[in-house]
Amino acid sequence: MEGFSKQQVKIEPPQNQIDAMIDDSSIPSIKKLDDATINKIAAGEVVVSPSAALKEMIENSIDAGSTQINILCQKSGFDFLQISDDGHGIKRLDFPLLCERFATSKISNFSDLRRVGSFGFRGEALASISYVSKVTVTSKVANSELAYSADFINGLMLNEDGQSPKPCAGQQGTTIQVRDLFANNPQRKKSMGVNEEYGKIVEVVTRYSMDDKKTDLSTHNVQRPSLADINPAESEKLKNQLRIEIIKKTYGQNQAGREFIDVVDSLDLFQYSLSSILSKPNTLQSKKSFFLLFINSKFNQLNLCLLDRLVESEKIKRTIDSVYQQFQPKGGYNYFVYMSLFIPSEQIDVNVHPTKKNVIFERQEEFVEYIQDLLIDKIANTTGERSYMLDRQSRGQMREDLQSASLPYVHTREPSDHHKKNLNAMKMVRTDSTAQTLDRFLVQGNLSNSNKTLQDKQNVVSMNIVSVKKLIYEFENDIDEKLQETFRKHTFVGTLTPEQVLLQFGLELVLVQVEPLLQEFLYQQVLRQVQSMEKYRLFNPLSIQELLKISLDLPESHYNPKIHLRKEELIEFYTNKLVDKSDILNENFGIEIDKETASLVALPIIYEVVKPYPEELPIFILRLACDVDYSCQNRYYHQIAEELSFYYSKLVQLFNIHNVQGDGSLGLGSLGAGANGQMAVINGQKDLQRTREEELKWQYANKLFPFMKTNMSIRKKFGDVNEMTFTLITKVENLYKVFERC
Ligand SMILES: Nc1ncnc2c1ncn2[C@@H]1O[C@H](COP(=O)(O)OP(=O)(O)OP(=O)(O)O)[C@@H](O)[C@H]1O
Ligand SMILES: [Mg+2]
Repeated sequence: MEGFSKQQVKIEPPQNQIDAMIDDSSIPSIKKLDDATINKIAAGEVVVSPSAALKEMIENSIDAGSTQINILCQKSGFDFLQISDDGHGIKRLDFPLLCERFATSKISNFSDLRRVGSFGFRGEALASISYVSKVTVTSKVANSELAYSADFINGLMLNEDGQSPKPCAGQQGTTIQVRDLFANNPQRKKSMGVNEEYGKIVEVVTRYSMDDKKTDLSTHNVQRPSLADINPAESEKLKNQLRIEIIKKTYGQNQAGREFIDVVDSLDLFQYSLSSILSKPNTLQSKKSFFLLFINSKFNQLNLCLLDRLVESEKIKRTIDSVYQQFQPKGGYNYFVYMSLFIPSEQIDVNVHPTKKNVIFERQEEFVEYIQDLLIDKIANTTGERSYMLDRQSRGQMREDLQSASLPYVHTREPSDHHKKNLNAMKMVRTDSTAQTLDRFLVQGNLSNSNKTLQDKQNVVSMNIVSVKKLIYEFENDIDEKLQETFRKHTFVGTLTPEQVLLQFGLELVLVQVEPLLQEFLYQQVLRQVQSMEKYRLFNPLSIQELLKISLDLPESHYNPKIHLRKEELIEFYTNKLVDKSDILNENFGIEIDKETASLVALPIIYEVVKPYPEELPIFILRLACDVDYSCQNRYYHQIAEELSFYYSKLVQLFNIHNVQGDGSLGLGSLGAGANGQMAVINGQKDLQRTREEELKWQYANKLFPFMKTNMSIRKKFGDVNEMTFTLITKVENLYKVFERC
């Protein structure tokens, strides 16, 4: 044991003796590079070609607020490249720093980078150009009588005294001349063909003129509108039309395509908006693909975006490749895609590379996936890949028809209305069971998928539909974090009435209005199940005409014979409309209408516990016909989901009016969608009603609330002080006080 406790003594020779003993003369030593070499190496990264130098100088001119930029070049810019602008110019005293590395007027410290509003900010471009060519700068600022000029090489000003630039005559603005580009780097020069480089120069000029309505491309002059000229309210659509003209003029139809898809989109989640032009698949004759990506980054004092930064994003490019590959699987794919993205500068990193060309987005994966879905959706819609899409003409026609017809409207529901406890309106539903033969509403469950769990179903939701994805993003990102957290951990205390339950939130006892909560839950469920909705089949198909007839007799329809069309005309109009839209309704939402007989044959199973009940069906059908804007995909997904959730959340009627008989088990089956899936309407049988009450309580405690607990986004509106869905009844400490008194 002792041996272990003895300290071992390590004898080491002094470091210099060790060094002397080792022969390392063959290993090169590390030395610090001199500034000139560092700068030359760095210059090679920024100025890789004449077109790269031109890009930097155009960006400088734009940063200087120029309204007109003229470009001249000889031998593709290798011999001579000149760019003149009418921007704010360069102050005489700034000349010595102009070509020095990391000297800039655009940012002062690193934090400025978060909101950089200019193309440049690194103070490297002119310095780099001066390391690979001879540079002459002439500039005049507005309040100076004279212009000044100086030559630069290797970052230094070359004037006789090495200090001040020479005074000369000149117009306001800056002219930069670049001579003998890459004369000191013949390998680089050789690697670039003069013709090929000329093409690139034209492309740079073209790209920067893309956002400009006053472009004269034929002379390769880029005329930019004055800032005052730009009308921020000008619609993106109109701008895209102009862009299409420019694209066609510049690239020709072979290169750019004959037909384009115009995409304008925005999403609050990423605080982004996009304006894009895509060539339709299979319309491009050229084999080459073009992708122009601009990020808006120049703002005026009002924070309105004025100009775009031309960038590259390998991620987005690969996504576009894959999208077109899907539509042009045979024989390769090709495309012309122009994209102008507006994203707040805090959400993009442009400082990835000295050329500032590459960008990384915040939440890049998610963002790029969103873009991918959007493109697929837009292309699929325009190329008619979706069977339910109507052609534009008939959509337009339908709209006109609707506008010209004098139609009744179904009262638009105020979102807060049904959150209040006032349920009188619902009790006003006029039902005449003998005249309307409600028995015909008997519903049969669709058994084929009944053993699938809801979660399974949700996993197969088609997330390709951007409009749906957007709506899901909306509620998933509108969460009241605190309330969500407490709701996730709630304990179910008990059901007071079908409309009210008690939950325990930590130490608090909370009264919950079921209907508004259920409605929100169903809305979310509908959207998650779009295109994978299971169905209840009706025993007997129900004539849409008859349903509409019933609905127009109901007070909620607000039908007024004095101001509206005759009932028969309306019924016919709406029946045709629903038949016309039946593909949208069926494929997405499981609302199946037989086109031949114009009758309803199935309704969706949104959530097993909640059933469609007959009394509100006519008004639901009327709402589907007249409250949904089928011409706009973004809107109709939201509106139909809302209608469905409203219709299915009417628990009170469900509870009071009809009963269910099923396979006898207490769970899903007993409510009608189980093994034999039968549901029957039985009026006035008190016993069964009591059983039903018991069942509902059981469903709340064991199915609905546990499921909502983990699968529902509790939106901010529920946390609002005026919102009555969750009401605090008491806190545990108060109860203790009561107990103490007892
Ligand atoms: N055409 C111009 N008009 C007015 N000022 C200019 C012009 N070109 C360059 N400058 C001035 O010279 C400075 C250096 O330009 P340079 O392009 O090297 O750097 P930068 O634009 O600031 O950053 P980056 O290297 O990212 O482009 C600019 O900050 C600007 O003040
Ligand atoms: Mg610059």
